[in-house]
Amino acid sequence: MTSTIAIASEIRFAVVSGTACSRPSGRARAFTPSPRHPVTPSLCHLVTLSLLAAGCVQDMADQQKAEPFERSGFFADGMASRPLPPGTVARGRLRVDDHFFDGTVNGEPAETFPERVTSEYTPEALLARGRERFEIFCSHCHGSIGGGREGSPHMRELTGMVVKAGFPMPPTYHTDRLRAAPIGHFYDVITNGFGRMPSHASQIPPEDRWAIAAWVRALQASQHTALSELTEEEHAFLESPTDTDAP
Ligand code: HEC
Repeated sequence: MTSTIAIASEIRFAVVSGTACSRPSGRARAFTPSPRHPVTPSLCHLVTLSLLAAGCVQDMADQQKAEPFERSGFFADGMASRPLPPGTVARGRLRVDDHFFDGTVNGEPAETFPERVTSEYTPEALLARGRERFEIFCSHCHGSIGGGREGSPHMRELTGMVVKAGFPMPPTYHTDRLRAAPIGHFYDVITNGFGRMPSHASQIPPEDRWAIAAWVRALQASQHTALSELTEEEHAFLESPTDTDAP
């Protein structure tokens, strides 16, 4: 094989430097075909190509090896692929920040937003992102403001189309229990699912889960804030005419 490669590289050099497959010209003729055995360029290229191809056998790629999921008689479990040793972490996947990734602090649901979220987003940006993601991932079941059972009766009407089509009705977000729930609880429900609600971990990355949790809190405030708690500016905003007031 070594000799084939050596020949191939010789020929490659000859081709590149133009000495093999060109008709002789000028004084520096490296190769002169005899009149009895003329070498045409096409024949020359054919020979060159076949030799080059022989030199390009991919020993590394074609060597004996186990393919993913292949059966193997070598290991006791019959699988060629080896399980990862416990604790193995892929590069860039180290998740040591429990607050951010699990929504817990000292094993308890977090009461606050993780620093990674508060340092990256302004409150306005976080809510805007959360609202957008909520509309995409949650509103088809929970409706746009988190309607459902257990709260005031009119909340039962405010669920999403999936529930109206027969999916079990979730509790509304507007109950004392869920208003008192720590923010980490909402993060956990999105991450791991809750009862009949599926997990959204594979669809929604952690920072977006926090953004959605923030929006759920905003929805709760939207239905449960006393007028006396509003600033003058907020009063003025609420009292200003809206499109729906138009005759
Ligand atoms: C396929 C429908 C569906 C989707 C999508 C869905 N949920 Fe739910 N959710 C439910 C149901 C049903 C329950 C009640 C589950 C139960 O009690 O068994 C629930 C429960 C909840 C609860 C209440 C947990 C508690 O403590 O009672 C919260 C909060 C919640 N969901 C938030 C979300 C958020 C945020 C999203 C979007 C990321 C979302 N859900 C997406 C159906 C859904």
